[in-house]
Amino acid sequence: MLTGMKHLHSTLAIVLLLALVVAIVITLVNYAGNKPYNRKIALLGLISAHLQLVVGLLIYFISPLGIQSFSGANMKISLSRLYFLEHPLMMLLGIILITVGYSKAKRLADGKKANKTVLLFYIIGLIFILSRIPWSTWSLLN
Ligand code: HEM
Ligand code: HEM
Repeated sequence: MLTGMKHLHSTLAIVLLLALVVAIVITLVNYAGNKPYNRKIALLGLISAHLQLVVGLLIYFISPLGIQSFSGANMKISLSRLYFLEHPLMMLLGIILITVGYSKAKRLADGKKANKTVLLFYIIGLIFILSRIPWSTWSLLN
């Protein structure tokens, strides 16, 4: 069960990173060229983020690296702290930023403003996410 969830979480991580980069690049091109806002491309990033949130939350409660290792002693171990605290927290904040950006842009009639909003929120969200991916221990890379 946990192994399957971890594979899904790893695969969705790639899907999400690609979706965010594609959404940011296309929105940037539209913004620079004064073209209309493309909601579908931003939605791709939003759905990938929400799916990953659900899978991440499930893993958090079943993995020994998640809530089970939440303790004062583990707080001093940086890799442990990354998994039970920093990774979930920063990913959650990143996903909230993406959701807020998408929601705000949806309600804007002006395409230029909508593009700018998605650019700002998605780029900061992506930076949050990139900052706390467990790069050194990610099973796909190691
Ligand atoms: C912990 C689970 C989840 C939470 C807390 C959550 C929360 C939210 C929030 C706050 C919004 C913004 C609503 C708005 O103002 O437009 C939203 C939108 C959305 N979510 Fe989720 N979500 C979750 C899981 C999912 C899942 C599993 C999917 C599907 C794969 C999903 C798909 C969507 C879509 C498509 C929208 C945008 C709808 C639109 O166009 O306005 N979400 N979600
Ligand atoms: C932007 C969303 C996220 C991305 C891109 C992401 C990415 C990753 C990656 C690449 C790994 C390493 C997997 C491996 O080594 O096979 C991982 C592990 C993990 N993630 Fe996430 N994650 C996200 C959201 C979350 C959330 C929201 C939570 C919890 C609330 C979470 C909890 C965990 C846990 C507990 C592990 C360790 C699992 C284990 O090895 O037992 N993740 N994540």
